[in-house]
Amino acid sequence: MSKSQRLVEYLKSKGVAAELWRFPDRFTAIGRMIDSYLSGKTDADDAAVHLLFSANRWEKREAMLAALHAGQTLVVDRYAYSGAAFTAAKKVPGLDLEWCKAPDKGLPAPDAVIYLAMKPEAAALRGGYGNERYEKEEMQKEVARQFSLLADDTWHTVDAAQSIEDVEIQVRDIADSAVAACSEGPALRLLWE
Ligand code: TMP
Repeated sequence: MSKSQRLVEYLKSKGVAAELWRFPDRFTAIGRMIDSYLSGKTDADDAAVHLLFSANRWEKREAMLAALHAGQTLVVDRYAYSGAAFTAAKKVPGLDLEWCKAPDKGLPAPDAVIYLAMKPEAAALRGGYGNERYEKEEMQKEVARQFSLLADDTWHTVDAAQSIEDVEIQVRDIADSAVAACSEGPALRLLWE
């Protein structure tokens, strides 16, 4: 079970209505194009691919909002922060971090971002790593640098090199605090506005 799924199960065990979401959602028409690109079956212009990743979030916006308004807590495995960091890491002239953030402005903003920090060398040792586009050490180093530029007041870094148990304790703590803060009912914030 993925860490995100385990967090959902934990929240549910505490009586919090929670759902797992993940991006890219590879099962929509746009998602299938993204999947084909990531697996190397097709090539595409970097800007166009970036906009596809963003469109893949926008096409889910209404469903996300409906779930949030119904009181669900959404645990989202990757979101716009990955979108901005990965494309910016490609260092394509003109596609700097601000350009990369722009298409996602106005999407629902997360209350907490949990960034699991792992050295690219350690990530490379995981099973299945290296099969997809972007799973290269140099690229991952630059992605990590771009992520550090995106850290905002919702951001929490957890050292993923710790034991699974310690990682989980910290992730749960962050989620508990975020859920508690939301129970006061703050207005939904929008991304990067
Ligand atoms: P995954 O491995 O979590 O399924 O993510 C798929 C890959 O797509 C991963 O290398 C990160 C990358 N990605 C982007 O380039 N832009 C995005 O907007 C998202 C969500 C992921």
